[in-house]
Amino acid sequence: MSKIAVIGSNMVDLITYIDRMPRQGETLEAPGFAMGCGGKGANQAVAAAKLGADVVMLSKVGDDVFADNTLANFQRLGIDTQHVTRVAGVSSGVAPIFVKSDSHNSILIIKGANAHLKPADIDAAQAALRNCGLIVVQLEIELETVYYAIEFGKRHGIPVLLNPAPAVEGLSRAHLAQLDFLIPNETELALITGQTVNSPDSALKAAKQLVADGIRHVIVTLGEKGALYVGEEGEFRVKGQIVAAVDTTGAGDAFIGCFAHHWSQDRDIKKAMTQAVAYSAYSVTGLGTQTSYPDASTFNRFLQDL
Ligand code: RIB
Repeated sequence: MSKIAVIGSNMVDLITYIDRMPRQGETLEAPGFAMGCGGKGANQAVAAAKLGADVVMLSKVGDDVFADNTLANFQRLGIDTQHVTRVAGVSSGVAPIFVKSDSHNSILIIKGANAHLKPADIDAAQAALRNCGLIVVQLEIELETVYYAIEFGKRHGIPVLLNPAPAVEGLSRAHLAQLDFLIPNETELALITGQTVNSPDSALKAAKQLVADGIRHVIVTLGEKGALYVGEEGEFRVKGQIVAAVDTTGAGDAFIGCFAHHWSQDRDIKKAMTQAVAYSAYSVTGLGTQTSYPDASTFNRFLQDL
C-alpha cells in the first residue's frame, strides 16, 4: 500500500442544525449545535486514514486554540503532521455550517491560515511527497498552490487527484489537462465545462469533453445516484445506495478519501468507486463531517448488510 499525500485545507466546523435560515433582522432559535474538525482537505485525509491509509498532510493552522485541536485530531488518527505548520498572527480556517432537517447544508468558509499554504511549502515537503503514490488536492487553498501541486506530481511521476471543490470559475485548462484524476460533483462539472449538467447523461457528455482535453480519468459524483466514470478505462456507472440521510456535510470528502485509499491499494478504479459510493452513503447517516466517517471494521459491517 502506497502513501497518500493530501495538500489542502483544514477548518473548524461550526455546525448549526436549523429548521430554516433566519430572515434579515430576525433572531431565530435553532435546535442544535456541534463543533468539529473539518475542511475538505482534512476530511479527505481523515476518511483515508480511518480506513487504514498511510497519510501525509500538508496544511496550515492558525495561531489559536483551534490549531491545537486540529493537530491533535490528525495525530490521534495516525496522520503525519510534520508538514502541518502554524501561521503566526492568523486565525485557523473556520466553516460556519447550517444543516436543515432535510439533511442538506449551506456552508461559509473563512480560509484563515489555509490561504498561507504556498508552493514553497510543497518544496519544503518534497522528500515526504516523493514517497507518496498519490497526491490529493482540493480548492480551499490558493490556486497557485494547487497548480504547483499538479506540476510537482507531473515532474516526479506521482499521480494527482483534484477534487475541484468548492466550485471555482476559470480554472487553468493547461493544469487540468495534466491531471490523472478529476473528481467533481455535478455543480463543479458544470462550472468547469460551461455545460448544463442536470442528469447522468449530461454529466457524461461534459465529462467526455474533459477527457478529450487530456485528463486521464474523470469521475463525477452524483449524490444518491452514485458516480460515473469516463477516461482511459472506458465509461461506466456505479449505482448509489438509498439510505436515511440526516446530514450530507462532508459526503463528497468521504468519497474522495475512500476512493484514494482503495485506488492506492490496487489501482482498481471501479472497485475504488464502488467502495467510495458506499462510504459516502454511510457518512450521510451520521451527524457532522469527520464524525460521520466509519473506520474500516464499521464500514465492512455496513457493506455486508447492504
Ligand atoms: O466538504 C465539507 C467541508 O466543507 C466542511 O467540513 C467545511 O469545513 C468545508 O470545508
